[in-house]
Amino acid sequence: MKITVAIDGPAAAGKSTVAKKVAEIKGYTYIDTGAMYRAFTWYCMEKGVDCQNEAACVALIPEVHIKLRPGHIVLCNDRDISKEIREPRVSGNVSYIASYKDIRLFLVDQQREMAGKHSVIMDGRDIGTYVLPNADVKIFQIASVETRAIRRYDENISKGIPCTLEEIEEDVRKRDYIDSHRDFAPLKPAADSILLDTSFMSVDEVVEAVIEIIDKKVAEKEANNA
Ligand code: DC
Repeated sequence: MKITVAIDGPAAAGKSTVAKKVAEIKGYTYIDTGAMYRAFTWYCMEKGVDCQNEAACVALIPEVHIKLRPGHIVLCNDRDISKEIREPRVSGNVSYIASYKDIRLFLVDQQREMAGKHSVIMDGRDIGTYVLPNADVKIFQIASVETRAIRRYDENISKGIPCTLEEIEEDVRKRDYIDSHRDFAPLKPAADSILLDTSFMSVDEVVEAVIEIIDKKVAEKEANNA
């Protein structure tokens, strides 16, 4: 049976860590939509375009070809930029790019196409509200700003990406604000989403909770189809 799972929530809430593990255990395809906005941002910066100049960024749409490959590889025009898109300079600009409607429509089309083929677990900000409004399972994952900043700081350091905790916390607050105040498809829980506060949960506990939610929904779906 084909299952679609949407995991939304604010920056650095641990969505991708959880989604990757759940995908592995359940055999679903993991789609990291944030990586697509990051790749577009990286391309604008590479081209020397100001990320706060909407028209100039939108004009680049025809030349941006993003591919997500197994192993969490992100390609932009066939160049592997998996590491570059996690750098603080990209994180600091990505919310501007993600607020431009034309860029969102361009990337959402691709996200919907990817979700059409397989059982997927997709993480982002607007998956349950806009990209996949009919997802079988919708989870809104949150955690305090302080917890999220520490998690992202540890992750960056372990990947060899230089940063400070203060800089990460400021970035998380700024992105929360821009992502939830944009006009088009802002960050917000879908009415039918399940809220999961992970501030005091380990990764394994969150994974377990998400799998429990999925298994319950799958059983309901099977019963309805019987
Ligand atoms: O999940 P992330 O931190 O990699 O996402 C990077 C940015 O992309 C985030 O600040 C908001 C934006 N984003 C979005 O607007 N919609 C999505 N579906 C995914 C990410």
